[in-house]
Amino acid sequence: SNDQLNERIRAAKQLLGSRAVVLGHFYQRDEVVQHADFLGDSFQLANAAQTVPDAEAIIFCGVHFMAETADILAKPGQAVILPNLAAGCSMADMADIDSVEDCWEQLAEVYGTAPDAAGRVPIIPVTYMNSSAALKDFCGRNGGIVCTSSNAATVLEWAFERGQRVLFFPDQHLGRNTAKAMGIPVELMPMWNPHKPLGGNAGSDVLDAKVILWHGFCSVHKRFTVAQIEAARAAHVGVRVIVHPECPMAVVDAADEAGSTDYIRKAVAAATEPTTFAIGTEINMVNRLAAEYPQHRIFCLDPVICPCSTMYRIHPGYLAWVLEGLVRGEVINQISVPADVATGARVALERMLAVRP
Ligand code: 13P
Ligand code: SF4
Repeated sequence: SNDQLNERIRAAKQLLGSRAVVLGHFYQRDEVVQHADFLGDSFQLANAAQTVPDAEAIIFCGVHFMAETADILAKPGQAVILPNLAAGCSMADMADIDSVEDCWEQLAEVYGTAPDAAGRVPIIPVTYMNSSAALKDFCGRNGGIVCTSSNAATVLEWAFERGQRVLFFPDQHLGRNTAKAMGIPVELMPMWNPHKPLGGNAGSDVLDAKVILWHGFCSVHKRFTVAQIEAARAAHVGVRVIVHPECPMAVVDAADEAGSTDYIRKAVAAATEPTTFAIGTEINMVNRLAAEYPQHRIFCLDPVICPCSTMYRIHPGYLAWVLEGLVRGEVINQISVPADVATGARVALERMLAVRP
């Protein structure tokens, strides 16, 4: 039962003390969140992984790319554990290193490799945190950088100081929404689809491109629609609509605000008057906010329950299993990024951590 599982998790954590640290993403279910030592968005959790040098193990309750990032940033000898190895991210899987390298070569044919008069190279690669370590390594090796939804605009500014244009992957929506908010016209953002490469038959619009978007998307956030926002506004006068920037552009444009999971939490926490919030992000987080702030009326824009199915794969049973393994001296489900990939990936991540949001 849940009570027994909670008891097992608590007992194992007590025996391990500071030897094990549990990190949890905001999208985790409550049964897992209650055991987290740190709860955060993907940027905060990447930072948290660096602030626990004494822990022998970091148990990452989130998805695979987050655990990889923690492993890259953790101290040597620290083990990062993903309680269920099947907790991936469908968006991260939409850009693979071979396709990105192929794209990069074709873009080099279009744009060349020579810097302009201001010393800016033709293209800077920017990967969303939601990507494999191999793509972060690619960025590290090619003058690029990582961003999260909480620092995407600052990171794009960093990139435009060094490059004439940006190749942004895997999430087309975060790339488009961020660049548009920075004043880049949508027409200057062609989309790269490996099945329909721009390549040699690129039109003049591609030559003018400022941001080349990969064709990836989040299957949870692409469900939100403008019609849902209109329905919420019709039903609740004065409703404040806040969505995650992984939502399609039309949805972000129709909302009152867009921001990372931490941005959404802070916006709700800062509201002093009782407010109605319609939120466009993962349901576990929305429901938790609703429970935490009963003075507000908080609901998910999508009336059909939409959990992130892979975040949900971290069941408390897996958490108990890996913690009890550690008690016995056994490391289960370790995420270990090979050194040759970790080196470049760390460069790209450290560039991001050095850019202040
Ligand atoms: P945050 O960076 O806002 O935590 O988002 C991570 C994520 O996976 C959103 O889908
Ligand atoms: Fe990936 Fe979307 Fe789930 Fe975030 S919510 S982990 S982007 S599938």
